[in-house]
Amino acid sequence: MRSIPILASLAASALAYALPPKTTTDTDGVQLPLVIWHGLGDDFERDGLKQVAELAESINPGTYVHLIQLAGDGSGDRQATFLGNVTEQIAYVCEQLATDPILRTAPAINALGFSQGGQFLRGYIERCNSPPVHNLVTFGSQHNGISEFQSCKLGDWLCSGAEALLRSGRWTSFAQSRVIPAQYFRDPTDMEQYLEYSNFLADINNEREFKNQDYKNKLMSLNRFAMFMFEEDTVVVPKESSFFAEVNGTTGEVTPLYERPIYKEDWLGLKVLDEEGKLDFKTSPGQHMRLSEKVLKKTFEEYFAPLKEEQSTSSHGLVVQRDH
Ligand SMILES: *[C@@H]1O[C@H](CO)[C@@H](O)[C@H](O)[C@H]1NC(C)=O
Ligand SMILES: *[C@@H]1O[C@H](CO)[C@@H](O)[C@H](O)[C@H]1NC(C)=O
Repeated sequence: MRSIPILASLAASALAYALPPKTTTDTDGVQLPLVIWHGLGDDFERDGLKQVAELAESINPGTYVHLIQLAGDGSGDRQATFLGNVTEQIAYVCEQLATDPILRTAPAINALGFSQGGQFLRGYIERCNSPPVHNLVTFGSQHNGISEFQSCKLGDWLCSGAEALLRSGRWTSFAQSRVIPAQYFRDPTDMEQYLEYSNFLADINNEREFKNQDYKNKLMSLNRFAMFMFEEDTVVVPKESSFFAEVNGTTGEVTPLYERPIYKEDWLGLKVLDEEGKLDFKTSPGQHMRLSEKVLKKTFEEYFAPLKEEQSTSSHGLVVQRDH
């Protein structure tokens, strides 16, 4: 039965893209596909994820949803959230999205990242962005890294194994090429080693001396970038990482994004996005990844609705600005 809505949305999408290009309204009304990257310990076969996909389709009918998967089955996909090289995983996802028959012919895609999937989707945008992302929404993501690894559930050997590796030698090339959370570990009291050895976050956040202008250009091309922080999050340490903020582990003092060099010197284009009103800071009640249908519904309506003429990705027409 699942194949029926998928086929229907496939046909609808194909039709929408096949319409002859008109003037600036050629993407008006197009329902962009939605790509979802799940978090640590999750897998693409989980019911929760399927419910999110179904909700996305019911709020915005005709949405083609693609759940990113790093292995052919659920257990392999879950393992890849703990173990692997993020550089290679992002390259694999770039290939996956660029070869998907629906995604590669879409004018753009929307992207939804849960937890670490959020910063990885940002990595996809900065490194590849083909097909290009229109709106990016991240929930409880670690955009400024973690300074502590999460505690694992009893009996979760995959999680405990990763945790042990992270504690014993987080900056070794072994951990940086194999333990996923090590690659976004960032302790403000230990910046030297982070800048030297971080395999993912220091690069994608443009924190090293050499700033990758292409990363900035690609991220700035977003139409909207919404970051959600879970108000009672105790899994992500610090939770303010979801907002690109830095937290002093001793005093608990929070330095918001706009007071940090990454924003002030605009290493990633976040300042530009903010000044254009395209950067949204939002909160969701409750613990890490305890998502309510209400929050998701509102999010899908606000960020993943069909394109309107004024937010068309391809419109570079004349805009008359009013005098102040
Ligand atoms: C991760 O993979 C990339 C691409 O294969 C490689 O260049 C890099 O050295 C790897 N990272 C580590 C820390 O080994
Ligand atoms: C945290 O705050 C204390 C007290 O102000 C300060 O001495 C310390 O350098 C701060 N740590 C970091 C990493 O900025």
